[in-house]
Amino acid sequence: MRILVTGKNGQLGKSLHKLVSEKKYDNEFIFVGREEVDLSNNNSIINYFDNHDNHDKFDIIINCAAYTAVNKAEEEQELANQVNHLAVKQLAGIAKEQKARLIHISTDYVFDGTGNNPYKETDKTNPINIYGETKLAGEQALKEIMPANAMIIRTSWLYSEFGNNFVKTMLRLSKERDEINVVSDQIGSPTYATDLAGAILEIIKSKEFREENQTTQIYHYSNEGEINWYEFAKEIFELADIHCAVKPITTKQYPTPAKRPKNTLMNKAKIAKTFSVGIPDWKESLNTCITILKEQ
Ligand SMILES: NC(=O)c1ccc[n+]([C@@H]2O[C@H](COP(=O)([O-])OP(=O)(O)OC[C@H]3O[C@@H](n4cnc5c(N)ncnc54)[C@H](OP(=O)(O)O)[C@@H]3O)[C@@H](O)[C@H]2O)c1
Repeated sequence: MRILVTGKNGQLGKSLHKLVSEKKYDNEFIFVGREEVDLSNNNSIINYFDNHDNHDKFDIIINCAAYTAVNKAEEEQELANQVNHLAVKQLAGIAKEQKARLIHISTDYVFDGTGNNPYKETDKTNPINIYGETKLAGEQALKEIMPANAMIIRTSWLYSEFGNNFVKTMLRLSKERDEINVVSDQIGSPTYATDLAGAILEIIKSKEFREENQTTQIYHYSNEGEINWYEFAKEIFELADIHCAVKPITTKQYPTPAKRPKNTLMNKAKIAKTFSVGIPDWKESLNTCITILKEQ
């Protein structure tokens, strides 16, 4: 199978690349970034797929690329909408035409965070910021164009040894400050990008995924466990053996351009049951990531 992965320079793209490079896979993976396919530009997308070099069709397209700057999206609404919505619509059209499966990554920020129970895939969406709105619009466009043969995986609080994320920010700040204030009234589950990448590779191998003409489905995937950002920061320093005081503060005390949902814990039963993918505990995976970061 020929598998195209977009967003090769992002956290998830790099984590997929890491796993694919470590193990032998029968499939051919082609990783592309902004240089090859610019999702903010319709013509760039058309050109890439029309290009003679890429003439061979893809069997699976995994869209890991996204406009992920949550605060900046409040100002750059048009760009965020182009990358997270219109480009996804275009990719879905191409995937359908090529008879390729499309695996698209979405976010817990499609929810408003007011629920008391972990969100199920069928729960009502109601994004409270532009990033969430554009990601939801992408999901909806994908489902409309590809009612079959696609999959949306919503994830949350993604971190890895690559790129920018909360774990790396905390480690950097601990070198600059003795005390860090972190919000303690936003609840969710972190997701180690390697775990999500591993789950995607497991899904691709499964016979459930390969069955033709299956209705497009949404799945939730994060690590196991329920925490707030303050607890996350404390555990990062604990595991990294760093002495830095962490002070819990409220969201009100830390205003940001984009509103953040209070509780986006997700129910992962559907993905676990359908594909038997592993869902490691957040602390275990955080420890793995910190160990890798310490060795760098
Ligand atoms: N990060 C999180 O906490 C989080 C939480 C929930 C869901 N998600 C979702 O998970 C997926 C993966 O996230 P991630 O953390 O791996 O994101 P990331 O590290 O920010 O990577 C996103 C990638 O998309 C690429 N991209 C942005 N604009 C592009 C454009 N116009 N054309 C082509 N490529 C473009 C970026 O390219 P450059 O490297 O060139 O900028 C980057 O490599 C995304 O769908 C995201 O919405 C993330």
